[in-house]
Amino acid sequence: MKRFLWWILLPLSLSAVEGERVYERKCASCHQRYIPVETLMKNFMEHNNTLLHLKAPTVNQLAYRLKQRIGDPKGDKDMQLMEVQSFVQDYLLYPDRQKSVCMPEVLSHFETMPSMRGKVTDEEIEAVAEWIYFYLPPQKEAKVLTFVDFGEAKRVAKRTGKVIMIEVTSPTCHYCVKMEKTTLKDPEVIRAIHRDFIPVRVDVSRQKLPDGLKWSMTPTFFFLDCDGKVLKTVPGAWMKEDFLSILEEVVEAKGVKR
Ligand code: HEC
Repeated sequence: MKRFLWWILLPLSLSAVEGERVYERKCASCHQRYIPVETLMKNFMEHNNTLLHLKAPTVNQLAYRLKQRIGDPKGDKDMQLMEVQSFVQDYLLYPDRQKSVCMPEVLSHFETMPSMRGKVTDEEIEAVAEWIYFYLPPQKEAKVLTFVDFGEAKRVAKRTGKVIMIEVTSPTCHYCVKMEKTTLKDPEVIRAIHRDFIPVRVDVSRQKLPDGLKWSMTPTFFFLDCDGKVLKTVPGAWMKEDFLSILEEVVEAKGVKR
């Protein structure tokens, strides 16, 4: 019963963040993330895995099969998630082809998965199983930053453990505009921000900064936790590499879960 409640109360997206990291560290060496189903079928049915040389089923395959084969596919999602979590838990510790949910035509190309006993904690298994369960095929990569207002940012920060990043800017600020056109348009920077931060943009020519934050120059970047506590203040415009290191420092200092 205790376990049951814990699952229900755990904010979903918090463990989603962590689940992806568990996957990257402990599963990605064998399980690729996403390959379109048609390509997979061609690979397995027509080419005997010589097209893709996969080492294990992909995450999109696992997600699909787990949802189809464990518990009641039409029933309550939370309930099915719990059943999937306990299946994955059991399979990781005691892999056994008799229990497999994947298609035999797919599995015939693989050895049985080695047991991960001692290599992965219960918490990590729960998180990674949840991440797999809710796995969605990749969306088109964002080409621009998605800014939200401060209230929304606080709510998302609370839910996800991400850091709020407030950019203090103004249209008459030459260096702000320059940075917005270069560094803040860079795909790698956009990816890094969307992964660990919630960006808020405040144009001080027409908006006030929240919660008594004080700025002396533009641009300035404030990094805050979900309670609005300032973790770091970074004045000035930055080139890509330097800005990426700043973001990394904030992530490390805060201990953002990955
Ligand atoms: C050393 C390679 C390897 C690693 C690391 C690995 N797996 Fe696997 N896994 C496999 C192979 C191969 C299969 C397919 C054969 C099988 O089902 O045993 C598989 C199958 C599975 C299945 C499906 C079982 C079924 O019903 O057929 C799940 C779920 C799974 N892995 C989850 C994970 C998770 C989660 C991790 C990381 C914590 C992980 N695996 C790490 C190789 C690996």
